[in-house]
Amino acid sequence: MYQDFNCPEKERVNNKIRDLVTDIFKNKAKKALILDGPSMTTFNTLKQVMDPKNITIIERNCSTVQQQQKHVHGNVFYGSVANYLDNSTSNANIFFLDWMGSIFGNRSTGDFPLESMLRILKTSPHRQLIFAATFCNRGVTAVEGESYFETCRDELEKALFRDAQYRVKESSTMTYKRNGSGAHMVFFLYVLKKSTNIDRSLCEYMLTEDRK
Ligand SMILES: C[S@@+](CC[C@H](N)C(=O)[O-])C[C@H]1O[C@@H](n2cnc3c(N)ncnc32)[C@H](O)[C@@H]1O
Repeated sequence: MYQDFNCPEKERVNNKIRDLVTDIFKNKAKKALILDGPSMTTFNTLKQVMDPKNITIIERNCSTVQQQQKHVHGNVFYGSVANYLDNSTSNANIFFLDWMGSIFGNRSTGDFPLESMLRILKTSPHRQLIFAATFCNRGVTAVEGESYFETCRDELEKALFRDAQYRVKESSTMTYKRNGSGAHMVFFLYVLKKSTNIDRSLCEYMLTEDRK
């Protein structure tokens, strides 16, 4: 189970997303889809700049859901991101998918971030999106000897966004170690614009055979 603890980098990434939401969407409609922990740091940060009724949290851990439901009613989906996408198409225009594992996925947890993010982007009705995600290099052997940060960025920008026909308008990134030790976390924040003339032949997913 995910444990929240005081992490200044997490606070910074949430504040970055909040500030970008204000800059980009100003008075436009805002709808967010997020992964959050028991302390609901992301929810509490985003609600400073948007209506909390328009924030949906997906959470697969039962006791975390119970904590979250003490504060929000109706907008917590109990299940995995993949379950959520099987049941509904997201019409959010702000995403913070704060994954706890590798971008390539994990068979034991059934999490496949690239597949889920592609489903989200390919079915999005919005021309403009704020899209943030964090990945962790725990258990990743497929990119040994390479920079995990660069691999994640290529998977997102040279594959996923091109495949879904979104162009990067703005981006910002951050890498950090959780609790100052342990696994590397890589955070990406994008403003994406729909662009239907992107050449999909430029879209090349790497390492599809070697995902771990
Ligand atoms: C890293 S924490 C989110 C932290 C929060 N965004 C913050 O800034 O403090 C990720 C949360 O999402 C849940 N989670 C992780 N992967 C998930 C998935 N594939 N489907 C549903 N919930 C997931 C975890 O149980 C955890 O509570």
